[in-house]
Amino acid sequence: MPSTTPPTPALADLLARGGPVLDRRTVLGLGAAAGVALLGACSAGPGPSPSASPTAWAPPAEPLRFPTGYTWGAATSAFQVEGSTTADGRGPSVWDTFCATPGKVKGGATGDPGADVYRRWADDIRLMSELGIGSYRFSVAWPRIQPTGTGAVNPAGLDWYRRFVDGLVDAGIRPAITLFHWDLPQALQDAGGWAQRDTAARFADYAGIVVDALGDVDADWFTINEPKTHAYVGHWYGAQAPGLHDPATAVAAVHHQLLAHGLAVRRFRESGARGRIGIALNLLPVYPLEGADEAAARVDARENRLFLDAVLRGSYPQDAIGPEPGQVPADPDAFAALVQDGDLEVISTPADLLAVQYYGVTGVGVTGEQVEIHPTSAATWQQVWPEGLYDLLVRLRDEYPAIPLLLTENGIPDESPELTTDDPYRTEYLRTHMQQAARAIADGVPLEAHYVWSFLDNFEWGEGYEQRWGIVGVDFDTQERVPKDSFRFYQRVIADNAVAPG
Ligand code: GCO
Repeated sequence: MPSTTPPTPALADLLARGGPVLDRRTVLGLGAAAGVALLGACSAGPGPSPSASPTAWAPPAEPLRFPTGYTWGAATSAFQVEGSTTADGRGPSVWDTFCATPGKVKGGATGDPGADVYRRWADDIRLMSELGIGSYRFSVAWPRIQPTGTGAVNPAGLDWYRRFVDGLVDAGIRPAITLFHWDLPQALQDAGGWAQRDTAARFADYAGIVVDALGDVDADWFTINEPKTHAYVGHWYGAQAPGLHDPATAVAAVHHQLLAHGLAVRRFRESGARGRIGIALNLLPVYPLEGADEAAARVDARENRLFLDAVLRGSYPQDAIGPEPGQVPADPDAFAALVQDGDLEVISTPADLLAVQYYGVTGVGVTGEQVEIHPTSAATWQQVWPEGLYDLLVRLRDEYPAIPLLLTENGIPDESPELTTDDPYRTEYLRTHMQQAARAIADGVPLEAHYVWSFLDNFEWGEGYEQRWGIVGVDFDTQERVPKDSFRFYQRVIADNAVAPG
């Protein structure tokens, strides 16, 4: 279904160009300028007004200690680090197809050789041990397990993850396993992908295979990684795989991914797997400018409540989809027609945890546009504001209580595409966000873990290899690993279970 608000020429031009110049975050910045409500974010009610200049919280002079048992981790995902995209019977995913489409990814980059973790995993686990992390978050590539997304299991694919998981366990590192981090088998996309309800059932079958195979291990599991990004950026803006430009398909992808999540939680329970399971949501605090509370509330619905309410309350908000600025410009009745009796009960099947991914914040103006209220990192979409993490965590404590929270992604890219070990901005980013996490815990937020994104420099989607997020640098020619200064900083935090004032 076409957008209820047609793109302006400027936006249409940008959408047509796609690829390197259009990542999810450059799109975010367009909002009002393009005359179309795109992304933003928001607090549920009126948040602190940027015009009121919220006073930055000052950490105490002493190191802030974390609770005993707090989990320190690092994260990656399969397509971003594994390489070996045709090894051992792996089938093609939507990301292989997207990378092979000229102009979609900077430098024509593909998943190969990536950081070559598929072959270098044992050395990488040794490096994790040197860092001292208690948990490592990675994803399972569905096309390694079922090359066409359905039917018979590819034993070689499953065996690889068995070896990898055993390697982590032997090193005393708790696996944190994401079942879907956007690499849908291409054959399923050819059959309609997440626009189709059947894809949720196929995902549940795949999830059942993986939890049956690895569920003896004590692990944390995540069903779907950032369903919002995959739906909006992959199906609405077209800047990520599968590269579609249709808001109606995007909201179908929202519902079917959430349904897939709920079905997978049920399979997990049926399988008797050890450990815990939940979904990984990227959440974005929004700070309304003066007079922009209504617009910001709609943006909040689209960005945050559409996902949080469905999973944790069993309902969809009424203000996320529609023609108003800040909404997904799709037909709300068509969306409602996708939701069959019982779906919301499935989606809100009690989970064990909520995985939160936090990178930054945004301001929202009176017409729903995104406004830069804090400095951005080298990723221009990322407005760095550590207090936003505190605000988000406290909001979750108050509005979605009684579920353990894990911060499963948090990080910043290098300032240049060159390989470097000198990354004071990353140390500062991590230090200040860890301080806000400690502050939130002291205020009663049930936060149990902090995973840095990313363990390794890797394939950063539309940015290819030109944006480096690792605390370990990777020379993509030689595959040499070079721990950055932030790795050493993180090592000290983990050893002390505390973060110093800096
Ligand atoms: C996401 C993904 C990661 C990214 C990271 C940096 O949040 O987009 O989960 O795969 O690489 O966020 O952009």
